[in-house]
Amino acid sequence: MYVVVITGASDGIGAELARQWAARGKANIALVLAARNVDKLQAVAADCRVHGAQALVQRCDVSVQADCRALVDATMDRFGRLDTLVNNAGMSAQALLRDVADLGWYEDLMRVNLWGSVWCTHAALPHLKTSYGRIVAVSSLAGLVGVPGRTAYAATKFAMTGFFESLRPEIGRQGISVTIAYPGVVATEIRRRGYDAGGHPAGRSGLDESAAMPVETCARLIIEGAEARRRDIVMTAQGRLGRWLKLLAPRLIDRLALKALNQHARPQ
Ligand SMILES: NC(=O)c1ccc[n+]([C@@H]2O[C@H](COP(=O)([O-])OP(=O)(O)OC[C@H]3O[C@@H](n4cnc5c(N)ncnc54)[C@H](OP(=O)(O)O)[C@@H]3O)[C@@H](O)[C@H]2O)c1
Repeated sequence: MYVVVITGASDGIGAELARQWAARGKANIALVLAARNVDKLQAVAADCRVHGAQALVQRCDVSVQADCRALVDATMDRFGRLDTLVNNAGMSAQALLRDVADLGWYEDLMRVNLWGSVWCTHAALPHLKTSYGRIVAVSSLAGLVGVPGRTAYAATKFAMTGFFESLRPEIGRQGISVTIAYPGVVATEIRRRGYDAGGHPAGRSGLDESAAMPVETCARLIIEGAEARRRDIVMTAQGRLGRWLKLLAPRLIDRLALKALNQHARPQ
């Protein structure tokens, strides 16, 4: 039995990861599906069971440390092992700093994207040591290159990158791998759900989504990268180029980042 815990499994990339892992692993895989919306988790679990996989639904708000601990405890109680932890739960945000009156939601975002990952990873670590397991962190291209209008979101994703890059050499000798995924724009609802300047759901995307990567492709790349214990998965050619351009021509990167914003999201 191979046990995979996925946070943010009720929708988007996390739900698709669960479905694809179930289809690959069939009866040999158990998926622990964590998020706040239990009804949506149950629907994803049913999709996984069609393939013969086992699925456990666990209500978990990753911004609450006790929920993260309970997620790992529930996994061990039910399956007695933990092989792969995918820190995927995340929220987005799009706002120019000058338009933000109350910075409270900046802290909320950090709690979900960074602290949720830190707390789940900390709780899972002893069990991953036993299984020579894998940790996956779903960061973002905004965790590699700064993006205007995304000071809050990019800060959380750079923080994730720093945490997991530092953890990797700490635990590599114990046989635990750390794979950091850097998706670009993926076709999910994340930007419409994300915070606007007032800390409310934006209801629209601030990016041009015409060339968004299908969620199926993104999930497949993450699973392949985790299975191969790759260090990084930089998902688009634009992302791979951006990583180098940042070192060679940083001003050009700033201009390209501004261009990626659609008209209403650009600073005037
Ligand atoms: N889509 C993209 O373009 C893109 C690009 C780069 C990186 N990413 C990253 O990929 C990850 C998944 O994004 P997505 O596009 O799949 O977003 P999504 O479709 O909005 O799904 C987000 C998932 O995270 C869960 N979640 C949100 N807050 C949570 C909390 N406090 N506790 C537990 N679960 C929570 C949601 O479930 P509940 O609401 O049920 O809790 C949902 O299952 C995120 O970390 C995101 O930053 C996405």
